Amino acid sequence: MNKLPLLGDITPAQFLRDYWHKKPLLIRNAVPGFKPLLSLDALAKLAATNHAESRLVTGFGGAWAMQHGPLESLPAREQREWTLLVQGVNLFDAKADALLRQFRFIPDARLDDLMVSFATDGGGVGPHFDSYDVFLLQAQGQRRWRIGAQKDLSLVDGLPLKILADFQPEEEFVLNPGDMLYLPPHYAHDGVAIGDCQTYSIGFRSPSYQELGEAFLQFMADSIDLPGRYADPDLKAGDKPAEIPRQMLTSLAEELNKVRFTEEDITIFFGEYMSEPKHNVFFTGPAKPLTVGKFGEAVMKKGLSLSRKTQMLYRGKHVFINGESFGVGKADKATLELLANQRRLDGEQFAAASDDVLEALYTWYQDGWVELG
Ligand code: SIN
Ligand code: CO
Repeated sequence: MNKLPLLGDITPAQFLRDYWHKKPLLIRNAVPGFKPLLSLDALAKLAATNHAESRLVTGFGGAWAMQHGPLESLPAREQREWTLLVQGVNLFDAKADALLRQFRFIPDARLDDLMVSFATDGGGVGPHFDSYDVFLLQAQGQRRWRIGAQKDLSLVDGLPLKILADFQPEEEFVLNPGDMLYLPPHYAHDGVAIGDCQTYSIGFRSPSYQELGEAFLQFMADSIDLPGRYADPDLKAGDKPAEIPRQMLTSLAEELNKVRFTEEDITIFFGEYMSEPKHNVFFTGPAKPLTVGKFGEAVMKKGLSLSRKTQMLYRGKHVFINGESFGVGKADKATLELLANQRRLDGEQFAAASDDVLEALYTWYQDGWVELG
């Protein structure tokens, strides 16, 4: 792959080989001339709703405090040392979505969201570490980052946010608009605003194995098939009625050991799980949907695209969209793969779709999962 403007002088392949999960990378001028995509007013409006996850972090007088959204009001703009954080801004703003999608050299199943933070002078969320990789893109004003590779990640007890007990910074950078800092998981960092500042965090998903395991077992519960019922035709008389007979457990173990999961079960589970919309994501279909005929004509003319909120993934013959999965044949697979990778289909690509695909696209259009144009 070619160099990505975002990564400065290196290619995505070099970045993944040398930095991803391994060491920080500072990219000066990753996005030349970058301007903030949203005003503080627009961010505050988002933070006031319960559609977007938001937090207000203050460090007034050296005391950390955190308030979860919806946030009806914010401290005065002149007040120092506060930070507004809004998660998932890509779901609400087309330009934020386009920025996040520039990071698609990493698979969609790993890409999480764009978080915007606005801070007044001296504001920050304190020295901490995250469990995820992150790209920190400076969008407005300046922020001083201090970072360190320390092993001791113990936290101060009793605070409303994660603050490292013994932060040992090793490097320091002041980021200007358009500069970007990549940090691997568990890398200690502290960013402090120099004057009003906005920082965009491009975050990644890495579910814990425990979380995945629990969800997988729930998924399997819906699909296991164990016919028959416990029986004991050879039951013997005994004198300890309260004791569970060994034979009962042996028979049970034999049956339960018939539960198997295949690679296909894992694929379907994972695709559904990773394409499931977050709890606060809601889709709205068109108020006056076109008929299927008119829909087809409109797509021929203007094409169609996935809603910003839609997560569409695939593997082999399995296609996943917003938590649902289905198996497809070769021809349909080609069309749906195009849609998933490009996040849109033009009229010509749509013209090649089978009736089954047309029917699915029409349903997704009615549900607000895909949009015209
Ligand atoms: C911020 O943008 O204020 C915090 C981002 C982070 O440190 O993870
Ligand atoms: Co962080």
